[in-house]
Amino acid sequence: MKGVILVGGSGSRLDPLTRVTNKHLLPIYDKPMVFYPIQALVNAGITDIMLVTGGNNAGDFLRLLGNGSDFGLKRLHYTYQDRPAGIAHALGLTRDFADGDSLLLMLGDNIIEGNLLQARRNFEAQGQGARVVLTQVENPASYGVVEIENDRITSITEKPANPKSNLVQTGIYFYDERVFDVVSKLQPSGRGELEITDVNNHYLQAGNLEYDILKGFWADCGESFEMYLESQNLVATHGANKLNF
Ligand code: DAU
Repeated sequence: MKGVILVGGSGSRLDPLTRVTNKHLLPIYDKPMVFYPIQALVNAGITDIMLVTGGNNAGDFLRLLGNGSDFGLKRLHYTYQDRPAGIAHALGLTRDFADGDSLLLMLGDNIIEGNLLQARRNFEAQGQGARVVLTQVENPASYGVVEIENDRITSITEKPANPKSNLVQTGIYFYDERVFDVVSKLQPSGRGELEITDVNNHYLQAGNLEYDILKGFWADCGESFEMYLESQNLVATHGANKLNF
């Protein structure tokens, strides 16, 4: 299995912090934000990773991460998204890198306390389709909200005005090789982006979408200044040991 980490986008919710740099280079306590998703993938046994970046600071990732050897990576690849056209659009750029393998996709602004190894094993046992990693939050309207009935996902709705549950999809997704065909058929959403939620709904309709519930804390550092601050406090409180650095 290969890994993809997205570090593009506009970072507009953290403006002006993101006016002259990329959001994923900002500090989260004592490390740049992008270190956390890389380490999460390494902890799940993934050492072949592609970083999708964009905007004006793409070269800084190369300066910061080099060939990934500090993380014990076998290979660290880079590609460039020329406009923030959506998470699924960014994923679509990694087709040749994936080269028929399954993928673990993680958004570069997500921080987790737990380990994704069990979810990876569950996905491998599943054999095909997609698998989303879920968590409970107090403000579900900011995320992709998931409804579950009889242990099955019945709907995923991106940032609904009236969320039907507190359960949301984190930025952690497992896909089989068919995800690129799904992405290639997507239409832009109302906000002009190719949405990862549309990808997941495609798998849901095909009866091929499973899930895990994340243990430990999860933070989307880019959601707001409050979350940016809270994620740093979580890292400082729980310490690097728990994050397996
Ligand atoms: O964090 C979890 C949430 O992430 C999910 O609950 C939502 O369903 C999902 O749509 C996503 O929502 P966000 O509003 O947080 O997505 P955002 O636009 O902030 O982008 C997330 C990451 O993906 C961010 O680290 C930047 C990167 N990105 C985003 C876009 C739109 C790219 O690399 N390229 C892009 O074009």
